[in-house]
Parts: sequence; C-alpha cells; structure tokens
Amino acid sequence: MSSFEVIIYEKQGGIAYVTLNRPKALNAYNVQMRDELYEVLGAIKEDDDVRVVILKAAGEKAFCAGADLTEFLTAPPPVFARQARFERDIWGRFLSVPQPVIAALHGYVLGSGIEMSLCCDIRLAADDARFGLPEPGLGIIPAAGGSQTLPRTIGQAAALEILMSGRWIEAKEALKLKLVNRIMPRTNLYGEAEKLAKKIMSYNVETVRAAKQAVWRGMDLSLAEGLELEKRVGQGLMTRS
Ligand code: COA
Repeated sequence: MSSFEVIIYEKQGGIAYVTLNRPKALNAYNVQMRDELYEVLGAIKEDDDVRVVILKAAGEKAFCAGADLTEFLTAPPPVFARQARFERDIWGRFLSVPQPVIAALHGYVLGSGIEMSLCCDIRLAADDARFGLPEPGLGIIPAAGGSQTLPRTIGQAAALEILMSGRWIEAKEALKLKLVNRIMPRTNLYGEAEKLAKKIMSYNVETVRAAKQAVWRGMDLSLAEGLELEKRVGQGLMTRS
C-alpha cells in the first residue's frame, strides 16, 4: 500500500484504524482524502487479518467539516464530474467492506462527515460532537448518499427537517434521533470504540459478517424478500460450520 498523506492507517490486534488527518482544515474531505480512503478500504476488505475497522479523525475540533470548500468552489466542470463519480465509488466502497466498521465521532461532523459515518455500521460519538448538513446554504443537496442514508437511519421527517433547514444537532439530540448509537465523554471515545471492537472480535468472523450483510442488504428489500435473504444467509452459515 502506498504511503498516505491525509489519512493514517494502522493495524493492531485485528483492528484497522483509519484516521482522517487534515486537522488544520478540520479534516475537510478533499479529492486526495477520497483517493486515499478508496485505496485503504480496498486493501482492508481483502485483508482477513482485519476483523473490525475503526474510523476516527485527528485533531481536537472536528471529525470532518464536510467537503473541502476550496476545491469545491473552484473546481472546473470536468473535475466536478470526476468528483461526483468518485463520490459514488467511495460510498459504494465503504458499503462493500465486509468487516464491521465503527465510526468514532467528535467535534464537527458536517456534510460528508455525517455521510461517511452513515456508511459505517455503528456510530459512537463524543459529547462534544455537533452534526449538520450545510448543503442547503450552499445551494446543493448532499452528494455522498446523505439524502438516502439519513432518512433510512433517523426516519423521513427528522431527515427532511435537517436536509431542508440545515439545523445543527448536538450529541444528545443525535442520540435521541438514533443518528448515533451512544454518546460518551470525549476522553472515553476511543477506549469505548476499542472495547466494542474487541467484543465483536470475540465472535466467529463469518457470523458477524453474515449479520452485517443480512441487515444492510435487507434494508433495500421488502419484508418477504428480507426474510428469504435471512434464510439464505443463515443457511450459508450452517453449511460452513
Ligand atoms: N473546507 C475547507 N477548509 C475548511 C472547511 C471546509 N469544509 N471547514 C473548515 N476549514 C478550514 C478553515 O478555512 C480554517 O482554515 P484556516 O485556519 O487556514 O483559515 C480551518 O479549517 C479552521 O476553521 P475555522 O472556520 O477557523 O473554525 P471555526 O471553529 O471558527 O468554525 C466551522 C468551524 C466548521 C463552523 C467552519 O469552519 C465552517 O463553517 N466550515 C465549513 C463547513 C461547510 O460548509 N462544509 C461543507 C459542507 S458541504
């Protein structure tokens, strides 16, 4: 794997740590970050030594302050088109990772930051986390799946309010809306993420992957189709053991 500049990749004891690393720009999501995430997620999904992934971010102030506005506002149309294409790819790549992915969120979690976290399986948040979709103020709608993943996560009405009004959400409300699984003091965030990762790792790898697959794939199906999927995935597990 080539060396990275705007993310940090570390692997220890079955856990892959991916850290967004542009703290001076509040980890704004630029094309380089997109390229590096694409590469690292591709490597992770093929790496059976990785049992769980933790996605986190460097610096005190932000997980990610959204798309990099300097690129965003100056990009000529062909670059913009490439960017839009790449965005689709990267979110697909997030969702194609068979290992459980835990997002550990702190500070500003805006725009692409929320969208990235919505492609993760579990979201843990520090009590200083603040969530927002600044897109309406920029005259755009989310381009990284947010208009689809947010309502699927918190329901249509709450998602529409956030998407149309741009209202920011504090950690406590994010918990109430089920945007995040749990909130905790900032100092506990990574310890809790690791504790959860280790708990997941104590179970059979195929079982955990099957549960992930059944839930994510089932979200797009009718209940009847989902039950069929569950049967198939469950039977697949039985024949493997
Ligand atoms: N793209 C590029 N740079 C960004 C950025 C972004 N989305 N968000 C923050 N930064 C940069 C700032 O330009 C600043 O850089 P500088 O120190 O070189 O001037 C640095 O990060 C710190 O940001 P600053 O605005 O000084 O911090 P703050 O605490 O006063 O405000 C925010 C924090 C998040 C409220 C504010 O930075 C902001 O509104 N950012 C834009 C959010 C946004 O619209 N994202 C796009 C979503 S599609």
